[in-house]
Amino acid sequence: MLMNIITPTADGSNTLYNETIGEHYHSKHGALQESKHVFIDAGLKFATIDLNEISVLEVGFGTGLNFILSFEYCAANNIKLNYTSIEAFPLTIDTIKQTGYAAYVAEEIWTGFISNYPAALKSPQTLLPHCTLEIPHTTLVEYRNDKQFDLIYYDAFSVQHQPEMWSDEIIAHTCSFLKPGGTFVTYAITGKLKRALKACGFTIEKLPGAPGKREMLRAFKVEG
Ligand SMILES: C[S@@+](CC[C@H](N)C(=O)[O-])C[C@H]1O[C@@H](n2cnc3c(N)ncnc32)[C@H](O)[C@@H]1O
Repeated sequence: MLMNIITPTADGSNTLYNETIGEHYHSKHGALQESKHVFIDAGLKFATIDLNEISVLEVGFGTGLNFILSFEYCAANNIKLNYTSIEAFPLTIDTIKQTGYAAYVAEEIWTGFISNYPAALKSPQTLLPHCTLEIPHTTLVEYRNDKQFDLIYYDAFSVQHQPEMWSDEIIAHTCSFLKPGGTFVTYAITGKLKRALKACGFTIEKLPGAPGKREMLRAFKVEG
C-alpha cells in the first residue's frame, strides 16, 4: 500500500513523502523555513500591511503547516483570518499529529486546529473569534465558489510531478477566485506560469526563493 512517510528536512522540521506522487509535501531544504518564507513573509505579511481582516484561499491543505503559521501570525497581530483550503486527499488526523508541527505554534493555536480539523473538512468552523477554517474536500478543478479572496497560496505538488495542476486553464480557474488587487504567491516560478498569470491580467514579481530555490513568484491581479 502506498503511503505518506514522515521525513526530516534540512532545517529539522518534518515533511511527508507521498509515495503515489513521488514527491515531498514541502522543500527538503526545510519545510518550516519554506512555509514561512513563501507563504507567511512574501504572502500574508505583505498582503495584510493595510488590512485587519484577510481571506486566504490555499490550494493543497496537506499537513496544515501554512494554515497554523498563518493562524498564529494573524492572532498575534489582531488580524481576522478567514482561511479556505482546497484538498483532494485529506490526511488523517493521526498523520497530521505525527508531523511534530505542534512545536512551532502556541498550544491554543495547535489545539484549535486539531480539534476542528475533522469538522472543517465538512463545513466552515470558527476556531477562535478571529479565525475561520474551511477545507473543501474536492479537487481544484471541481471547486466552485462565488466568493473572492484577498490572497492565494498556490501550494500544489510541482509541475514535474503534477503537471495538470499548472496548466493555463487551472491557473485561470484558480485566479478567478482572487479579488482585483489581490495577491497570489507560490514557491515555483516558470515562464509558462508567468505567461498564464499575465494572460489573466496579473503583474508578476520575482522574489528570492526559500533556501534551495533561486526564485519564487508573487503576482497581483490588476484592478479593473
Ligand atoms: C505540496 S502539498 C501541500 C502542502 C501543504 N500546503 C502543507 O502545508 O502541508 C500538495 C497538496 O495538494 C493536494 N492535491 C493533490 N492533487 C490535488 C487536486 N487535484 N486538487 C486539490 N488538492 C490536491 C495533495 O493532497 C497535497 O496535500
